[in-house]
This record gives sequence, structure tokens and C-alpha cells, in this order.
Amino acid sequence: MEFMDVVVKRRSIRKYKSDPIPEAKLKRVLEAARLAPSWGNRQCWRYIIVSDEALRKKIVERAGPAPADGRPIRPRDWIAQAPIIIVGCADPTKSGDKEGKLYYLLDMGISIEHLILAAANEGLGTCWIGGGFDETVVKEALGILKEIKVVALVPLGYPDEAPDPRTRNSLEEITTKNHW
Ligand SMILES: Cc1cc2nc3c(=O)[nH]c(=O)nc-3n(C[C@H](O)[C@H](O)[C@H](O)COP(=O)(O)O)c2cc1C
Repeated sequence: MEFMDVVVKRRSIRKYKSDPIPEAKLKRVLEAARLAPSWGNRQCWRYIIVSDEALRKKIVERAGPAPADGRPIRPRDWIAQAPIIIVGCADPTKSGDKEGKLYYLLDMGISIEHLILAAANEGLGTCWIGGGFDETVVKEALGILKEIKVVALVPLGYPDEAPDPRTRNSLEEITTKNHW
């Protein structure tokens, strides 16, 4: 696909087919993450490819008690339905913490977005899962070291839905020329 087509057509996908992902596609997706720029080229990331079904179910378990305001707990089973969950981990000591900026989070953001766009280019769906999971459970299940941060879970699979685009602010709203 043309680059802008990938950008325009990508969606967060929350329903997946169980069809397996060809190795060549998975490799290209991970390669895109690998080639991302990072603070000082430190490449603080590590990606764990979770295909085992029991592990997938385990790592998406919701953290903490039900919301006190009575909101229903959204089931998280859809995440584990994807044939693969990519767990995006960072070693903060390999990145920078300068002028109040935690660069490991920026590094991960760029690398994961590379991965997500590459997946869209392969006809694969993803959804950035930034919260709601229990980092302790994920770490224990996957043997992740104490000092490592689990930044995101990214389910990866063939989409079983075609959501409409979500709204975005206009270019006029988000850009100005020469001053705020
Ligand atoms: C940093 C980040 C964290 C996110 N965390 C979640 C999440 O925990 N659960 C979820 O369902 N979607 C999550 N999303 C997906 C957003 O809800 C989604 O990108 C946004 O609504 C726009 O929709 P689109 O991706 O289809 O354009 C996250 C996205 C980002 C960039």
C-alpha cells in the first residue's frame, strides 16, 4: 500500500479471526519495529510474541477491582482472541530521562507505531492496549525481569470487523503558523 493509504486505513481492531499469521508477515511487522528511531539509538525495546492461548488469556486479565461507580467491566476476551499478542517491553535504564522527558515511553511509542502501521500494510489488525492489564501478572506469566516496564499489549490478527474511522481534530485546529 501507499504510505498515506496505510495511515488513513489503519484502525484499532477489537474483533479478530483466529486464522494464523504467516511467519513472513510477522517478521516484516517486527522488522518495522526494530528499525524505529530511538533516543541516542538506545533501542530500549524488547517484544515478546505470545501465541500460546493459555498465556494470551492470562496476560489480558483485568487489573484491580470493578469500577466503584458501577460502570460495567468491559470484557477483555477479544484481546486474547487474536492469534498473537505482542507484548511491548522497555528497559528504562537503556533510554534517557532528561528534562522531565521519559524517553523510553517515546521510544516505545515510535517503535510500536512502526509495528502497527506495518501490520496494517500487511492487512493485519492491531489495537494498542495501554492499560487495564495487570503488569505483575504479565511479568510473572512471561518471566519478565523486575526492572523492565510492560508498556503495551498489541493483539495482532486478521480483522473480523471494519470499524468506521474515529474523528480527528482538523488541521486548522492542530496547526498554526509562526506562533501559538
Ligand atoms: C497510547 C495508547 C493507548 C491505548 N490504549 C487502549 C486500551 O487500553 N484499550 C483500547 O481498547 N484501546 C486503546 N487504544 C486505542 C485508542 O482507543 C484508539 O487509537 C483511538 O480511539 C482512535 O481510534 P483508531 O485507532 O481506530 O483511529 C490506545 C491507543 C493509544 C495510542
